[in-house]
Amino acid sequence: MADELPWWASTVIYQVYPRSFADSNGDGIGDLPGIIDHLDHLVDLGVETLWVSPFFASPQRDVGYDVSDYRDVAPEYGTIDDAQRLIDEAHAKGLKVMFDLVLNHTSDEHPWFVESRSSRDNPKADWYVWADGYRDRNGKPKPPNNWRSELQLPRAWQWGEERQQWYLATFLSFQPDLNWRNTEVRVEMFDMVRMWLGRGVDGFRLDIFGSIMHDEALRDNDPKPAFINGMPRVQTPSRTMNTPENFAVAADLRAVCDEFEGDDRVLIGEVFGPPAVLRRYIEDQGRPGLHLVFLFEFLSSPYSASRYRRLIERFEREFPAPLVPTYVVENHDRARSLSRVGGDLAKARVLATLLCTLRGVPVLYMGQEIGMENTYIPLAEANDPIPSVVAKRLPEWVNRRLPERLNRDEVRTPMHWTGEDGAGFTDPGVRTWLPIHPDHVTRNVAAERDDPTSLLAWYRQLLALRKATPALRSGTLDLATDVPTEVIRFERTLDGTTVAVVANLGAEPVTVPVSNAVLGARMAEVLLVSDPAATVDGHLVNLPPNSAAVVELR
Ligand code: GLC
Repeated sequence: MADELPWWASTVIYQVYPRSFADSNGDGIGDLPGIIDHLDHLVDLGVETLWVSPFFASPQRDVGYDVSDYRDVAPEYGTIDDAQRLIDEAHAKGLKVMFDLVLNHTSDEHPWFVESRSSRDNPKADWYVWADGYRDRNGKPKPPNNWRSELQLPRAWQWGEERQQWYLATFLSFQPDLNWRNTEVRVEMFDMVRMWLGRGVDGFRLDIFGSIMHDEALRDNDPKPAFINGMPRVQTPSRTMNTPENFAVAADLRAVCDEFEGDDRVLIGEVFGPPAVLRRYIEDQGRPGLHLVFLFEFLSSPYSASRYRRLIERFEREFPAPLVPTYVVENHDRARSLSRVGGDLAKARVLATLLCTLRGVPVLYMGQEIGMENTYIPLAEANDPIPSVVAKRLPEWVNRRLPERLNRDEVRTPMHWTGEDGAGFTDPGVRTWLPIHPDHVTRNVAAERDDPTSLLAWYRQLLALRKATPALRSGTLDLATDVPTEVIRFERTLDGTTVAVVANLGAEPVTVPVSNAVLGARMAEVLLVSDPAATVDGHLVNLPPNSAAVVELR
């Protein structure tokens, strides 16, 4: 049965942030050869798909999410041949490879935009979203409507002096939105996608994909405040996000992927919204679109059995098989998960257990497997552009207390490979682009590889078990509701095999039945426990505080 699922429906994704993964040439910046040199770490860990954040040519004002040439590699990361070698060598090790596509916007230094902004009648004049707006009583230019940027800044429009017009910038001012209504833009972007697919890449993560198509008539957004995926918004993005034409772009992009042999290239969308809306990216009006969408709720949920139970129940209800939920507890934009649980490794082990045993695709962020924490970097020292636009006047002591990091640098510091100076990320003595967390001395891949009690060892055991257990890869999920408040229990079943996962997220020990079914002569056999003090006694599981057990029912 397991083999009947397409590869992406049961894969495990590992996100690499190239600037911080491994520096092969001693310039303090990670690069593609560095990633190639460390592919064995991914294989040992047991992840199956590598997702690489953007490494394309870019002025790096948003660390590569501001592309100036989609068909070339930023020189500090390597060459186009390195990108090809990355694909080929990952494949040779049995890994799939996904790149990161920023389709919504380019850098304002992209030659297309430089040309587009230069006049109203150049060949690229219509490649971006330009609008006249109007003049107020004093002759001051005013934007055409009330649209706010994705960061909720007062306006999503920037003034273009040469053209005396506004251009749309959904994210930051230096990231102008491409005009996807222009046929030439579509043809060029889809050709670029074909170029990478032709080079063998297995799919793409799609950056802020829900913002590509906005209302053609530029009508105002609904001014009502909203809450989307746990994030507050000043207005409801009714005309700028998840518009019907966005779902059509998903289907068009899917058609491009399906031109390639095997129909097995994959699209995963960074999209925000309620599940009923997100599902339309997967299929709309009978046309298939993206394969997967990120479900970000775990990123903003506190560590709590009842909260997590509610989320699992919701994801199961709203993404029933053959739909595949995704589970994300960490990425390059949000706080490190270990920091969110107060640095408590027992809690991190419970979170890892859920992530790797729930039905769906787990997505890990580099360093999560060794328990990397946020590296505190004051707003004033930020390399990330966000603090300079959204937190200009925020006092540092307030910033220090925020659970979510405004300065995303804090979760983007170099990976810890060893305890040496340079953390094995770069040569000793080299100044790295962001500081290395001082705890790399003890918390690093080399040290944890040799320690059977480490978080890394726990992730390896979980992923090995998942790989070897079809019920965990592709079985059904049955979530128990009649459990003590602090407990999460679910059963994964396939072809008569049932694996139960039981977790205690509370501060007191608990004893719970492994299943509510009448087990009769069936035996409960322990597969893994996150804490050596967790035991199974007949059909009962005893769990110390913050521990989990994976048990097979035979
Ligand atoms: C996405 C990326 C983020 C980037 C933004 C603009 O949210 O994850 O890192 O800054 O899009 O491209």
